[in-house]
Amino acid sequence: MNRPRGMTRREAVAVSVAALGGAAVMTAGLPTAAAAAPLTAAEADRPWQDRRKSAARRADALLEAMTFEEQVVLVTAVEVADSKPLEHLGIPAMTRVDASDGLRGDTGVTAFPAPNALAATFDTDLAEEYGTAIGVEARGKGWNVLLGPTLDIDRNPRNGRESEAYGEDPLVSGLMGAAVAKGFQKNDVIAQLKHFTVYNQEAGRNSLDVIVSERALREVYYPAFEHAIRDGGALSVMGSYPKVNGVYACQDEHIITALKQDLGLKGYLGTDYYPSGDRVEEIKAGVDSAALTPDTPKEAFTDGRIPKERTTDAARRILYALFASGAYDNPLPTVPAATVTTDAHQALARITGEQATVLLKNAGGLLPLSKRKTIAVIGPAGKDAMTGVEGSSYVDPGDFTTAVDAIRAKAGAGRVLFSQGSLGDVALPTISGDVFTAPDGSPGLHAEFFAGEFFAGDPLAATTAANVDFRWGNPVSGLPSTWSARWTGRITPPTTGWVRFSSLLSGAAKLVVDGVTVFDNSRFLWDSFFGPKECALGGVTQLTAGKPVDITVEYTTKDAGFYGPSMKLCWQPDSLIPAAVETAKKADVAVVFVNNYTGEAIDRDDLALPGDQNQLIDAVAAVNPDTVVVLNTSGPMLMPWLGRAKSVLQAWYQGAATGTSIANILYGDAEPGGRLPVTFPANEEQGPSTYRGGKNDSANGGITYDEGIYVGYKWYDKHHAKPLFPFGYGLSYTSFSHDHLRVTDRGRGDLAAEVSVEVRNTGRRTGSDVVQVYIGHLPTNVDTPAKKLAGFAKVTLKPGERRTVSVPVTRRTLSYWDESENRWVTPSGKVSVYVGSSAADVEYAGTVTVK
Ligand code: BGC
Repeated sequence: MNRPRGMTRREAVAVSVAALGGAAVMTAGLPTAAAAAPLTAAEADRPWQDRRKSAARRADALLEAMTFEEQVVLVTAVEVADSKPLEHLGIPAMTRVDASDGLRGDTGVTAFPAPNALAATFDTDLAEEYGTAIGVEARGKGWNVLLGPTLDIDRNPRNGRESEAYGEDPLVSGLMGAAVAKGFQKNDVIAQLKHFTVYNQEAGRNSLDVIVSERALREVYYPAFEHAIRDGGALSVMGSYPKVNGVYACQDEHIITALKQDLGLKGYLGTDYYPSGDRVEEIKAGVDSAALTPDTPKEAFTDGRIPKERTTDAARRILYALFASGAYDNPLPTVPAATVTTDAHQALARITGEQATVLLKNAGGLLPLSKRKTIAVIGPAGKDAMTGVEGSSYVDPGDFTTAVDAIRAKAGAGRVLFSQGSLGDVALPTISGDVFTAPDGSPGLHAEFFAGEFFAGDPLAATTAANVDFRWGNPVSGLPSTWSARWTGRITPPTTGWVRFSSLLSGAAKLVVDGVTVFDNSRFLWDSFFGPKECALGGVTQLTAGKPVDITVEYTTKDAGFYGPSMKLCWQPDSLIPAAVETAKKADVAVVFVNNYTGEAIDRDDLALPGDQNQLIDAVAAVNPDTVVVLNTSGPMLMPWLGRAKSVLQAWYQGAATGTSIANILYGDAEPGGRLPVTFPANEEQGPSTYRGGKNDSANGGITYDEGIYVGYKWYDKHHAKPLFPFGYGLSYTSFSHDHLRVTDRGRGDLAAEVSVEVRNTGRRTGSDVVQVYIGHLPTNVDTPAKKLAGFAKVTLKPGERRTVSVPVTRRTLSYWDESENRWVTPSGKVSVYVGSSAADVEYAGTVTVK
């Protein structure tokens, strides 16, 4: 592992804590040293200040000293100023920041690799350090409630927020989430896990009704929260936007009761930011904090609509979290620090990036590269790389080192050729100039506007337009609230080759050029709530210079969201691919960087690499047999060029480490330590009930999770489907053997068995292996998965080194949720145990006998 010379990762983080003047925060957030001191007079008078008492007793004591009005203030405070009436009780204002991968909205912070990249490390120690570092920075910036980690299960890779959470497996999500939450809370802050529950897509997110079985909730969607609460000590949870079986999640007493009673939340439940639904019903159902719903009616607390005991319970839960986290006892700095990132945190981001990067293919051992080779770097590998998911988890990466610069620093500028090749998944320039000809021969396009969304009847208005370009409202006057429009004419491109078209819009649009449908989809947003990029809808087609072709653009207000009617038609007529091909020909090896945009409120349209990036890879690989593809993507992509690229790295979004970690891996200064926390589908049809991401076809109604518990690799096993790459997969620069597999029954409390295996590094380089333990069907007639991850262990070994790792199998893993009895059932009998290096590559290890 690379870290400042002579320093362990843990020390590196500790140094950064001290540098911020917060050395005491490493003591797990719970009162420690102060507990031994005698009671002061003030403490005797104010018993809740007695740090020797438990958080629960302190909360009760403070509650007794509060008026009912003060309790209402605690439950409804939104702004810092709202908390003023609580100051005399020592209750700090609760300041909130989105923090799933760093601090959103702040500068001078560390943008860490995205959470699904962290999951790909399969390293819970690293995850705790990641959480600790974010917690340190949060306190430095004056935040004591961290909105994160995000524990939404990756049911469908088209989800626009896929990269904000920890992949498809409940156990990986739970162990990672627990570690991050624990790291956060070491810093006297509260971790607010999100989003409870079944928030797995952006299409229709505020109104969607998710029809899901109780068994799937218990086995797939709840466990990560339970781990983070019970093992990670998380003190708060955020409710989700959708409805669950007909009731908004934040109003659903059934699931809130499960959260508090069965999953063990002792702290408080808040809502997400302005969910649809009824504020009073939310509090009545068990929401404790209205901090993200400024419109909660205060009078409802006193006019009988909300029972008084419910308000007191909510206030008690918030106080409990304040005491248990240490936030009550350790006030925030009065002046937030301008810069909280440190060299150690930047190094931690880089190490996370290296350990997250998955080597998907490495034909002929092309990687790692020799520094003596000339290298053509192609694609968005500069400041235009994707560093993070846009929306409420977007973190400013600051002035990060780009991949091109990091590669130049290693190979020497003289050996590095750069060619842009593709702009990646970005908005393009607006179409301008005299390229359009209307059917009557005049410059521009003929536009017709219709009532309703389906171009029906006679046009209400017609005009000639220079381009399609309107925002925040209708392009012509007199249109009804729902309308559609069609622009027709011819377009004459200035160049020959691949022409990219794209559109920024709020609504639905279809573009047909020379008979080819270039795009046909919708956008809710034109640009992100947070983040620097725009959510372009796009496609590509081949045209000939000077040859006019028919063009038809259709727009409807159907899915117009945030911006109201808006659309701009853009293009990139000059392909950058030919120049990249020439550059690739001159180099020993070509490394092509490609990316995709994802963000909150926008799902991916499909699993294809956007724009002209597939064409770029094909063209480069055709002239340079030693082509490496670096996928700077949110998650799975289809790879039609896989047979032609020699090596492929899945790099995810890596925040500030976007360039440095990849350069280290390309040259073997670091190993690609990642394994896939999600299955990569082989086509658009694989996986649980897919929908077309950008198309809000589930927006107005519901979506049924008819796959039940068969999410991720469990779906593939059940359907005997072969994915492109399985869950848990990843190659290494070295090789490993697994010997002496042994299953030992324990039958003690929750520990059912232990699985041990001797791992040996059989190659010539130091590297890390992720040993995965799966269990087979349970001994029951009830349908259970053919394989379920029971545990994993990451081990780093030198060449020839061997180590025996032991992975516990819990009783819960050997159980299923019985819907008729409404409880966990652990069937007795024998269960097969497998050890492997992916969900598709396992070896039988023995059985565990359940009594
Ligand atoms: C997101 C949450 C986020 C909140 C506050 C919402 O739109 O869904 O994840 O924490 O905004 O920024």
